[in-house]
Amino acid sequence: MEKLGLNDIRELFLSFYQSKDHYRRQSFSLIPEKDKSLLLINSGMAPLKPYFAGLETPPSKRMTTCQKCIRTGDIENVGYTSRHGTFFEMLGSFSFGDYFKKESLTWGWEFITQVLKMPTDRLWATVYEDDDEAYGIWKDIIGIPEERIVRLGKDDNFWEIGTGPCGPCSEIYFDRGEQYGCDDPDCKPGCDCDRYVEFWNHVFTQFNRDEEGNYTDLAHPNIDTGMGIERLACIMQGVDSIFDIDTIKYILDGVVEVSGVKYESGAAPSDVSIRIITDHLRSMTFMIGDTILPGNEGREYVLRRLIRRAARHGRMLGIEGPFLSELCDRVIDASGDAYPELKTRREMIKKVVAAEEEKFASTIDQGMKIIGEYTADLEKSGDKILDGEKAFKLHDTYGFPIDLTKEIMEESGYTVDLNGFEAAMERQKKRSQVEQEMEGAGWDEATSDISLDGETEFTGYDTMVQEGVVMAILNDDGPADFCGEGSVCRIVLDKTSFYAESGGQIYDTGVMENDGFSADVTEVTKNHNVFIHKVKVTKGTVKKGDTVICKPDVPLRNMTAANHTATHLLHQALKDVLGDHVKQAGSAVTSDGLRFDFNHFQAMTGEEIAEVEAIVNDKISRFIDVTTKVMAIDDAMKEGATALFDEKYGDMVRIVSIGDYSKEFCGGTHVKNIGQIGLFKILSESGIASGVRRIEAITGQGVLRKLNDDEDVINRTAGVLKTNKDNMIDRAASISEEVKNLKKEIEELKKAEMSKSLGSIMDEAKEINGIKLITKQFDDFNINDLRALSDEIKSGNSGVAMVLAAVSGGKVTFLVSLTDDVVEKGYHAGKMIKEIAAAAGGGGGGKADMAQAGAKDPGKIADAFAKAETLL
Ligand code: ALA
Repeated sequence: MEKLGLNDIRELFLSFYQSKDHYRRQSFSLIPEKDKSLLLINSGMAPLKPYFAGLETPPSKRMTTCQKCIRTGDIENVGYTSRHGTFFEMLGSFSFGDYFKKESLTWGWEFITQVLKMPTDRLWATVYEDDDEAYGIWKDIIGIPEERIVRLGKDDNFWEIGTGPCGPCSEIYFDRGEQYGCDDPDCKPGCDCDRYVEFWNHVFTQFNRDEEGNYTDLAHPNIDTGMGIERLACIMQGVDSIFDIDTIKYILDGVVEVSGVKYESGAAPSDVSIRIITDHLRSMTFMIGDTILPGNEGREYVLRRLIRRAARHGRMLGIEGPFLSELCDRVIDASGDAYPELKTRREMIKKVVAAEEEKFASTIDQGMKIIGEYTADLEKSGDKILDGEKAFKLHDTYGFPIDLTKEIMEESGYTVDLNGFEAAMERQKKRSQVEQEMEGAGWDEATSDISLDGETEFTGYDTMVQEGVVMAILNDDGPADFCGEGSVCRIVLDKTSFYAESGGQIYDTGVMENDGFSADVTEVTKNHNVFIHKVKVTKGTVKKGDTVICKPDVPLRNMTAANHTATHLLHQALKDVLGDHVKQAGSAVTSDGLRFDFNHFQAMTGEEIAEVEAIVNDKISRFIDVTTKVMAIDDAMKEGATALFDEKYGDMVRIVSIGDYSKEFCGGTHVKNIGQIGLFKILSESGIASGVRRIEAITGQGVLRKLNDDEDVINRTAGVLKTNKDNMIDRAASISEEVKNLKKEIEELKKAEMSKSLGSIMDEAKEINGIKLITKQFDDFNINDLRALSDEIKSGNSGVAMVLAAVSGGKVTFLVSLTDDVVEKGYHAGKMIKEIAAAAGGGGGGKADMAQAGAKDPGKIADAFAKAETLL
């Protein structure tokens, strides 16, 4: 059997199945598109589940792919064995209710024996214990000797992975030879030793497994075969380890080169690190190639962990500073032809890895030192478990993913208190929410000069018009006793009904006044519980100790409240439609509309958006009351309330409930009944960061404004189209039809013109050395027109050399085209055109029979034609 490169094996497989009428498809992305149960694609069939289950119609009933896969379940073994890897490619052939066992097994046999030319006496087959049909196919149709067909039980020959399509299977094994075997005289496939390697699994997908573990029959039986290309490559290249396969070895060699550490094929302890880095380089490159970015959750966390794990092993090999990013080039060079996304995203892949490495590099040494101290302490105390708070510090301060800490500790025989870690993480989340809100409160240095006793009481939840006493005044020069007409100052009151910006909701604006004094309130911020009103005095003067009346603008406040309550509805509706993983990542509520950011791994579909919008509007039409309650934070947690809490309350929090549909920690102002929102409309859904989506929406009168704006656009468009709104679509369609027809007409005219001139063109040809030379200039032609003309002439003539020039927009394009017999005489269009174009100040090239060039000087076309004559 011939040694084949991994890339050649892939091509042979895919084209073999293409020849059996399979639709050959590029690998699906590693990000599951439709499968929320899955973090990353982990087998060839995973992206095809809807086809197997009959939920969607496949592009063809037969398909073949080489699928990128990631499995991190065995990550602890990577590096320690010669077989484990987190990234692999799976060759697959699939039938969706088309062919079944016979074709699957016989074609499989044909491929490995005829195409790969594996020796038949080294091949074994296994079947599910009571699958007589498969047994019969192997024995009677394919003709394997019975002693090499093994029946095995459910553990070996029934394939399923999580939920979804599954069924009995038949596997093909390669016998690596006695030297790999064990002492058992009955050693055969199914034995634990290394002699027989399973390399191709043919699954007869007949069932669907649901979340409770029930099996139901699929609408039709399918075929799902999967062959790990790395394992096959080991066989075909006669190597024992995936790290010795040509494409993977190339990456490993890069690691060896950068580290200067010799690789001893698994014999040296440092080989573990070399292999881990090699494997992880593959996973990280492919993951980022599919636009996954490092982060703290889900597959983003998987990626971060892989990069940081590889970085740490780099350190263990003595590599200083970032090194992974450069090595990604090797992965891309090894696999880029089959996975073009790697090549297109090369720069991005390298940048993302470099950024992550750099982030980690600045803390890794310190972190490792701290870990050393922790283990020393544990050793002293005889304790075996690392404190959760300490593991959290490593995560928070030194960027050590918890799994990495766990692994490092386990390497020295310790475990980590994971519950303690989670609790520390929760506490930190709460702290940072408070900090964010305090930052948002805008207490800048100037206002911190104000010395204050006591706090401002906010009465605006229930009261719009509120009396307050001026406690402090601040102008541009610092604290002041009064603020006069025309000045801008900041005023602190003991009581106010103005909402200060917080929790994503904008401040109220309005008027502050008393007898003889009036001011516009343009901004309200707060620091802890002190409310600071930025005012512009329009009449009179205000002094410390004065009583003023606060009058926030009622319509603006009400529209803001409507948008805020709608945000809560939206939050819950997103959970309903997308799943419980949806978490608020930020929000901004004003009187004009709302913006809601949330964690979700992919763009929402049009249907999902419509569904969310419909749910919110349905709730609005039910006129549900909004209630608020202040309670101890622990009780609120117990009640299952979500989201932010307002630092205003300290241990006490305010809970806003919409019937029993939504319950959130919130200090904002809300409508009393959601019917007051009127209408909810989503304007856009977009991505703002990796894994973070943003929805922008409007409510009530905002919808009317939008309607009017849109109507204006429609009317103006109708004006441009010289029609009215009702006839606009017909008119646009007929104009576009007209343009299409005109274009066609122009093409036809050109063609007619061309064929008319064909005859005269041939008549004008000059005969030189037995070759008819045509030189002709065409105005307003492009290169495609010239090509069409040349094809036309070539199809009915021989012995012709054409030098055609198209002039358009002051530029010249030359086409030199030779009939085959002229080429046979030794003329070469590509070479000729260089000299011809040069005569008109241009350059170009091409093949022997046809070449093109551009030139700048239409005035020199005659020179170029003259040059052509001398070349024959
Ligand atoms: N889906 C089957 C496997 O992964 C073919 O083994």
